[in-house]
Amino acid sequence: MQELSRQSAGIISSKKRRGTVLFADVAGFTSIAERLGEEAAFDMIQTLSSAMQQAIHHHSGTIAEFRGDGVMAMFGVTTALEDGPLRACRAALDIQASIRATSAEMISRYGEAPQVRIGLHFGPLVLGDVGDAENAHVTIIGDTANVASRLETAAKPGQILISDDLMGLVDGYVDVRDLGHVPLKGKANPVRVFQLEGAREKISRFGVAKSRGLSTLFDREAELSQLTQVLDRACAGNIVLADIKGEPGIGKSRLIHEFRKRLAKNIRVMEGECRAGGAETPFRPFAELLRGVLSLGDDATAQQTARNIDRMLARTGFDAAVMRPYYLRLLGKAEEARPIRGESADMIGARMRQIIIDSVHFATRDNPVVLIIEDLHWADPGTTQVIDQLIRSDAQVPLMVLCSHRPTFVAPWKDHAHAELIAPPPISEASARAMVRELMSASAQHQKLGDFFGIKRVTVGFFHGQRH
Ligand SMILES: Nc1ncnc2c1ncn2[C@@H]1O[C@H](COP(=O)(O)OP(=O)(O)OP(=O)(O)O)[C@@H](O)[C@H]1O
Ligand SMILES: [Mg+2]
Repeated sequence: MQELSRQSAGIISSKKRRGTVLFADVAGFTSIAERLGEEAAFDMIQTLSSAMQQAIHHHSGTIAEFRGDGVMAMFGVTTALEDGPLRACRAALDIQASIRATSAEMISRYGEAPQVRIGLHFGPLVLGDVGDAENAHVTIIGDTANVASRLETAAKPGQILISDDLMGLVDGYVDVRDLGHVPLKGKANPVRVFQLEGAREKISRFGVAKSRGLSTLFDREAELSQLTQVLDRACAGNIVLADIKGEPGIGKSRLIHEFRKRLAKNIRVMEGECRAGGAETPFRPFAELLRGVLSLGDDATAQQTARNIDRMLARTGFDAAVMRPYYLRLLGKAEEARPIRGESADMIGARMRQIIIDSVHFATRDNPVVLIIEDLHWADPGTTQVIDQLIRSDAQVPLMVLCSHRPTFVAPWKDHAHAELIAPPPISEASARAMVRELMSASAQHQKLGDFFGIKRVTVGFFHGQRH
């Protein structure tokens, strides 16, 4: 009965969340529609909507509402997303890029190229299933959606505006122009607004903390000496693995950073990292690592890639004709890898793993190697298999594999004799206090504030057993 009366009031259920809201709309669409007539306008909006929809879905956003000439989407609201705010920014940038890409076609078809305005904001929101039982849809209620919508209205055609609150979550990962405080309709005080211009591809969360300046390291002597012992075993000619396990913010990346800093010059470091949402790309960290070794940018052509691969293979003495197609495939140039066609997926996978393993072995020819792969909880299965195969092999090469993962990942090597599991405990209460004192004294400097928030995660994680 109660359910029925709520339905008739228009809201079936509601949930409180925090998340990012994106508003996009086609600037001046009403007048465009008047000029073009109904049918052509409908046609145009279909093309534009599908470009927007694709970009939003590609970055794991959910469309809350399609309006006549625009869209409202949310990120990290209905589904938990590791980096919802950044994904929302990337989606906004992709929307603008795909709208720009259609402009020549638009001009030839309709005589003009429409532009889109986008606004983004992060904050608390109420998610409601609105409508009656047969016709329910999810909508966002509250100030966060209002602010995103107002930012969208304030944007110039082609522009993306993000709020100060969202900027606080993506700072370091994006390129922006600070537009200062801007009055927004319905807001008593002007809101600080940034124009989003780009997102940085290769920067990790810890990379951002590092760029802001790290605080003193506390309480990690035991773990550093454990890592040094593993390294000593590797340098003696063994394949060994050190695997750092812990909750987000406990300091896995920081520990790896400190260990790296202390490495002797003759040790070669190779690094690849797993990314949130990257588990669909086979062997992603190894591809990244190989791209680094071959000095290839993301936009390298298939020809350049093949040339650099051949040059490397010539030095190794491996058979280029056999290996080249697999390397090309690993680097995402599968269409060039003709000789692989006809082989089963299992066979290709097994060969790819063997080739990666051979290449890693080869890298240890002149110097001991520390192979770092962070964030295995986001690894593709192939990457985990390669690591597992590496440490189970009998090869006598000086190789230390150094990994990190959050507790959600179950390491297949956890009981293996060549694998050392390191679980850094939260820092002591005294260290946490010292850290906070250090940060407070530095907090006048804006740069250090960034690290303060990073540290807060560590200390809060320590005292309450979880992040946030
Ligand atoms: N022992 C420590 N002493 C001082 N600062 C620390 C320590 N451990 C971590 N930090 C700081 O805390 C922040 C978070 O640490 P870090 O990025 O290493 O966490 P993480 O375990 O890698 O988290 P995630 O799983 O999200 O990658 C960083 O700014 C780091 O410098
Ligand atoms: Mg980390």
